[in-house]
Amino acid sequence: MTGRLTGKSALITGSARGIGRAFAEAYVREGATVAIADIDVDRASRTAEEIGPHAYAIKLDVTDQASIDAAIRAVEERQGGLDILINNAALFDLAPIVEITRTSYERLYSINVAGTLFMLQAAARSMIARGKGGKIINMASQAGRRGEALVAVYCSTKAAVISLTQSAGLDLIKHGINVNAIAPGVVDGEHWDGVDALFAKYENRPRGEKKKLVGAEVPFGRMGRAEDLTGMAIFLASAEADYIVAQTYNVDGGNWMS
Ligand SMILES: NC(=O)c1ccc[n+]([C@@H]2O[C@H](COP(=O)([O-])OP(=O)(O)OC[C@H]3O[C@@H](n4cnc5c(N)ncnc54)[C@H](O)[C@@H]3O)[C@@H](O)[C@H]2O)c1
Repeated sequence: MTGRLTGKSALITGSARGIGRAFAEAYVREGATVAIADIDVDRASRTAEEIGPHAYAIKLDVTDQASIDAAIRAVEERQGGLDILINNAALFDLAPIVEITRTSYERLYSINVAGTLFMLQAAARSMIARGKGGKIINMASQAGRRGEALVAVYCSTKAAVISLTQSAGLDLIKHGINVNAIAPGVVDGEHWDGVDALFAKYENRPRGEKKKLVGAEVPFGRMGRAEDLTGMAIFLASAEADYIVAQTYNVDGGNWMS
């Protein structure tokens, strides 16, 4: 059986769990071989084992340039090169403006923004040297479309991801590298369990209430699931998306229109 990504070599950051893991499973089903690249290397190894022989784990900290370079080298040595990068690793935090700390700001920017830029740069260098083009997909968010009272730092990191996608998309298409982004809405999973706990603290709600509220507000009628995003991730990595450049696609059950 041939898939839409047969023979492709992909690296997905932060794919030990959550949305990144669902992307890895979908890519393997479509015929790709995927590096499960995560700071949590034990979980990445378990995830890779569960997915099967076309997934392998790499320890990666996207805040560390040496770690980024080593991850790209590991993919080159094992797979002969990199065809697809998904910049998926990110951190969330929330606090009212008057309580934001520099530590939280710097952590989120180093992973969500600098991590995205310097992974993208290292992947682009490798793809350009190989001369076969490639696909880079950045994970933005509906949070990057509009600020939210308690979410200033995270929202601004995701707005930066949308902007980086535009600039990198325009710069790299001459090398046959398509850079695009996906903007999910609210996606259930371990990540949102943490988000719910933070809203419970700052909005003085019982645990689980914020999740119910945001799910009920989605025009589709429920929160997203990681699997709801895989179709777009496959499409953007496939040859069908060759003419798509510097775009950010909302996959959010109708939450946002742009
Ligand atoms: N879940 C949602 O509702 C939602 C909504 C919009 C956008 N997103 C975006 O989708 C992406 C995936 O979200 P998720 O819900 O699966 O998140 P998650 O928190 O479940 O997974 C993030 C992964 O990134 C890894 N990671 C953290 N720091 C890292 C680092 N320095 N280097 C490498 N890996 C690191 C973690 O170990 C984890 O496996 C993120 O970019 C997130 O911002 C999620």
